[in-house]
Amino acid sequence: MNIPAETLRTIAKTHDSFYLYDERSILERTGRLKAAFPSVEFLYSVKCNPAPRVLACIFGQGFGADAASLGEVLRAEQAGLQREQIYYSAPGKTMADIEGALSKAVLIADSLDEIRRIEDAAARAGRTEEIGIRINPNFSFYGGPGEASKFGIDEDQAAAFLREEDCPHVRVTGIHVHLHSQELDAGVLERYYENLLALAERMETGCGLRLAYVNMGSGIGIPYSGEDVPLDVEKLGAAAAEKLEEFRRRRPGLRLMIETGRYAVGKSGLYGTKVLDRKVSRGKTYIIAKNTLNGFIRPSVEKMVEHCSRDSRPPMWEPLFTHAGAFGFYTLKEDEPREEVTLVGNLCTATDVVAENILLPRLECGDLVVITNAGAYAAVLSPMQFASQERPAELFLTAAGEVLE
Ligand SMILES: Cc1ncc(COP(=O)(O)O)c(C=O)c1O
Repeated sequence: MNIPAETLRTIAKTHDSFYLYDERSILERTGRLKAAFPSVEFLYSVKCNPAPRVLACIFGQGFGADAASLGEVLRAEQAGLQREQIYYSAPGKTMADIEGALSKAVLIADSLDEIRRIEDAAARAGRTEEIGIRINPNFSFYGGPGEASKFGIDEDQAAAFLREEDCPHVRVTGIHVHLHSQELDAGVLERYYENLLALAERMETGCGLRLAYVNMGSGIGIPYSGEDVPLDVEKLGAAAAEKLEEFRRRRPGLRLMIETGRYAVGKSGLYGTKVLDRKVSRGKTYIIAKNTLNGFIRPSVEKMVEHCSRDSRPPMWEPLFTHAGAFGFYTLKEDEPREEVTLVGNLCTATDVVAENILLPRLECGDLVVITNAGAYAAVLSPMQFASQERPAELFLTAAGEVLE
C-alpha cells in the first residue's frame, strides 16, 4: 500500500482522525490469493472490516462471505450476494438469528443443540434446510491432539450425532473448521489442510455424509513488522494444490473454501490521526493525538499487554494482540530531525498510550501521524462510544484515485 502524501494532506484538511482503505491494494491481495489457489473459493470474513465499499470491492472479486452474525449476513445480502455465497458460522445463535438467516445464508451449526434448533425452525417454516456443521476436529492446528473449544462440535460427537439422530428437516452437506489465525509458516498451513481433508474423508466414510463443500477456515497471516517473514501464498498454493485437486477430482462438484479477513485487507488500510497538542513533562515529550485507543485500539492494547505481562514475548491473542511492534508510525515530515516522543491519545485516561519513546520528526499541532496495518480488526474493535468523542471517518481510496466517504 503506497498512498501519496498529497492525498493524506488533503484528507487531513477536513478530518482529524480517519481510516483510509486502498482499493488498489485490496485488489492486488485478493487477486494473489485467487491466483495462488485456483481450485478454491474464498470467503471474506466480514467481521474484520465490514465497510460497505470494502465489501463491494472484495465481493466484486468473486469472494463469498464468512458471516459471524445475522447483521453480517444482511450486510452481505445488501452487497448483492446470493444465499449460497453467504456462510453464517458463529457460536450462540438465537432463534431469531436462525429464523432471520434461513432464506438468506447457509447456516453452519455450531453445536448439537443448534442443529436441533435449526430443525425446529426449518420444520416451522416448512423447509428442508441444507446446513453445514462446524467441527472441532481430533487434531489441533499444529497437528497435536484435538483441544477443548467453545467453537464447533467435537468430531466424535458430530459423528455419533450424524449416525444416530434423525432431523428430517435438516441435511448436513458441508463442514467448516477454523482453528487459528495469523499463521506465517506455509508448512504448518499445508499440513493443516491435509489433516482437514482426512477429516472430511472420515466424516464421509464414518457417517455417510455426501459433502457439497469443505470450508477450511482461515489461518493465512500477514507480516505486521519487519521481523515477520511474509507467508508466500503462491508457494503455499502450489504445495497444497495436488492434494486439494486430487480430493476434488474424486468428488466432482465438491467446493473447497478458504476464509480470509486480514490477508485481504489488513495491510490495505491505514489510520491517520492529527496532533492536537504537545507538551513536555519532567523532561518527557508527549504528543497528544486524536482518537487513538478509542479510534484504533490495537496499538494501545500492545502497550497494555506490555504493562500487564511479565513475559518478554507474550503470546498472540488474536484479534486484539499480535505481538509487540506490530504497527508502524510515520508522518509527512520525514526529512526533519527526529526527537524522542511518547504518542498518546486525547482521552481522559492514562491508558491511551500508542507508542513510548519512539523517534519521530518534530510534530506540531495539526500535523498528521499515520499508523500502518489498520485495514483489519481496527475500526470494528475500537471502543468508539467511549467519552462521547467524534468517531474517525472511514474513507475509501478508489483505484482511480478518488477518496470516497
Ligand atoms: C471462523 C473464522 N473464520 C475466519 C476468520 C478470519 O481470520 P483472519 O482475519 O485471520 O483471516 C476468523 C477470525 O477470527 C474466524 O473466527
